[in-house]
Amino acid sequence: MSKVAIFGYGTIGSGVVEVLEKKREYIKKQAGEEISVKYVLDLRDFPGDPIEKILVHDVQVILSDPEVDIVVEVMGGVHPAYEYVKSALLAGKSAVTSNKALVAACGPELLQIARERNLNFQFEASVGGGIPIIRPLYTSLTAGDASGIFGILNGTTNYMLTKMFDDEMSYEDALAQAQALGYAERDPSADVEGFDACRKIAILASVASGQFVDYQDIPTRGIVGITQEDMSLADLLGYGIKLIGRFSVAEGKPYAEVTPMLVPFDHALYPVKDVFNGILVDGDVNDAIMFYGSGAGKLPTAGAVVSDIIDITKNSGRTIQAGYSAEKLELADLSACKRAFYVRVAGAASSDDAARAFASSFGADSYTEIEDGTYAFITEPMTRAAADKLCADAPGSVNIIPVID
Ligand code: HSE
Repeated sequence: MSKVAIFGYGTIGSGVVEVLEKKREYIKKQAGEEISVKYVLDLRDFPGDPIEKILVHDVQVILSDPEVDIVVEVMGGVHPAYEYVKSALLAGKSAVTSNKALVAACGPELLQIARERNLNFQFEASVGGGIPIIRPLYTSLTAGDASGIFGILNGTTNYMLTKMFDDEMSYEDALAQAQALGYAERDPSADVEGFDACRKIAILASVASGQFVDYQDIPTRGIVGITQEDMSLADLLGYGIKLIGRFSVAEGKPYAEVTPMLVPFDHALYPVKDVFNGILVDGDVNDAIMFYGSGAGKLPTAGAVVSDIIDITKNSGRTIQAGYSAEKLELADLSACKRAFYVRVAGAASSDDAARAFASSFGADSYTEIEDGTYAFITEPMTRAAADKLCADAPGSVNIIPVID
């Protein structure tokens, strides 16, 4: 029998307890032995909840219990999650987490401690919610290098952008709905500012490259500032707007970023709507492969956590995933890359000639207008610096968004 302790009885923690309880027999067959929850750690009390009798408030109870084989960290945030997980690994227990902030900040150290002790530190649920993406990168896509990983990595913002695009819902209402559905982070600025997607692409880039990609090196822009006008104009131009995390290797140079992008209607990521995530993995052996599914939510994420628990139980006594090294991968400067941009102008004095002249300075031979003085166009490939320079002469306020390539 494998015994598990769960750090945190929030949305994911209670989902893990529910899945382990409801699927007890099925999981026993999958793992080859029974898996039971010995402790739940939380600062709060849960009067009347069945976990009350296994609830503890002191982590030392768990760390000092030799019967606990695996700890499951689903508290979120870096501290005290880091201290708890590190102490558990040092005490000879494997660890599973859904916490992207923890993995992005401390992954190399925790992986190394696990490796040195023939333990496991697994984090499938930290990226893509219920979508298997970490394990496939380690076990299925191993015949060649992953030259590119990009996709929709944040369910909250994808839900919001979908509601704004399809239902013309306001930004505020869309965010309130995503929060009510339990998709958003405790501080939703982590979602809307792109920080959550940034940590997720840093983790994927680290796994794919085998070297630590520091999330702090990744240029990150969220969906704040995207307006209803942007949605309408993008639609008229033949695009949706998605928040994209991307890691790519071009001519030997690694690049990473998080940014909203215009995605054409015929692109594989365009139909990825609501809370769903879609991740494309491109390789030198495999052509692009797409992973698609629920990117957030209680049971999908809990399912990914439980799959890690089962994997560790089946492989007790050996490290399954080599992980990635602590050696940092230096990212190349994205601002030197040329690409097409969507440029939206709002509040311009109405003049067809001025709009045409402004668009043409970016190499665009036409523009699309939704009302007097509010129009947009797609530029010729250029650097962001060149686009910014041209925008200095904009006749109104501008928003610049790259077009996916
Ligand atoms: N807030 C995150 C999201 C939760 O919306 O994707 C899952 O990581």
